[in-house]
Amino acid sequence: MPELDELQLIKSDLSDGVLTIRFNRPEKRNALNLAMYSALCEGLRLADGNDAVRAVLIAGSDGCFTSGNDLTDFMTAPPTGADSPVMAFLHAISTFRKPIVAAVTGSAVGIGVTMLLHCDLVYAAAGAVFQLPFVNLGLCPEAGSSLLIPRLMGHQRAAELLLLGEPFSAEQACHAGLVNGVCPDTELLAIARQKALQLAAQPAAAVRLTKELLKRDYAADLQKTIADEGAHFMARLKSPEAAEALRAFMEKRKPDFTKFA
Ligand code: COA
Repeated sequence: MPELDELQLIKSDLSDGVLTIRFNRPEKRNALNLAMYSALCEGLRLADGNDAVRAVLIAGSDGCFTSGNDLTDFMTAPPTGADSPVMAFLHAISTFRKPIVAAVTGSAVGIGVTMLLHCDLVYAAAGAVFQLPFVNLGLCPEAGSSLLIPRLMGHQRAAELLLLGEPFSAEQACHAGLVNGVCPDTELLAIARQKALQLAAQPAAAVRLTKELLKRDYAADLQKTIADEGAHFMARLKSPEAAEALRAFMEKRKPDFTKFA
């Protein structure tokens, strides 16, 4: 596989039928910027068309999965439509036909969690910390998560994670059905890779068909939900609440929402 981007913010490696894609922006806790979304899309597009790729493994680096969307980009280059890099990535991962395994270590925030809903097997290091802080940022769920999270764990548990936006542990993620297994931090990558190798050794056409059938009853609703959430999310990014939350993040202080009704 060719390098996915010049700065190597997304690293890729193909061996034994497994394409490993790694986020590589550790100084910003692997926050995903526009170039990274574009590189991820390109990686998935190339993987789809390359018969040598039989499974994809997504991982972070330096003890971090990803801190989610780059919050500076939300202010300076927010998504504006279906062709925005983040929306293109969500379409690519949510319609990807081959199996995807994710290995989550350290922080997984925002889209770092919601992208897991589109993976097939998810393993987490015991010390991993998950968070869905959309409401905390004056935003709303994205990536089809308002459909998939309640479907996975029921309304009350979904509401707790999405309305309070508090961090939750790998054990909690596993209990909620978001994660298949929790592993010691040092063994995570080897275990996730082993599962990806197992998938790569399975008959590929049967794997693709089974993945499609597993998602059949919600596939159409999912694309509509991603689009609807995307429209709300883009509008929320222009709201005074989001402006205050993003400013507070930059200024390293707590946001004050009391002035907004
Ligand atoms: N976008 C842009 N920059 C980010 C970022 C993000 N999502 N997450 C972290 N960074 C930057 C920080 O601003 C900081 O930059 P600086 O060194 O120039 O000040 C650097 O990455 C390290 O972050 P820091 O908060 O010091 O790391 P930490 O290990 O203490 O905490 C997180 C890690 C992920 C828990 C924390 O950074 C965080 O909560 N980030 C925001 C996550 C978020 O809200 N994502 C969007 C969801 S929609």
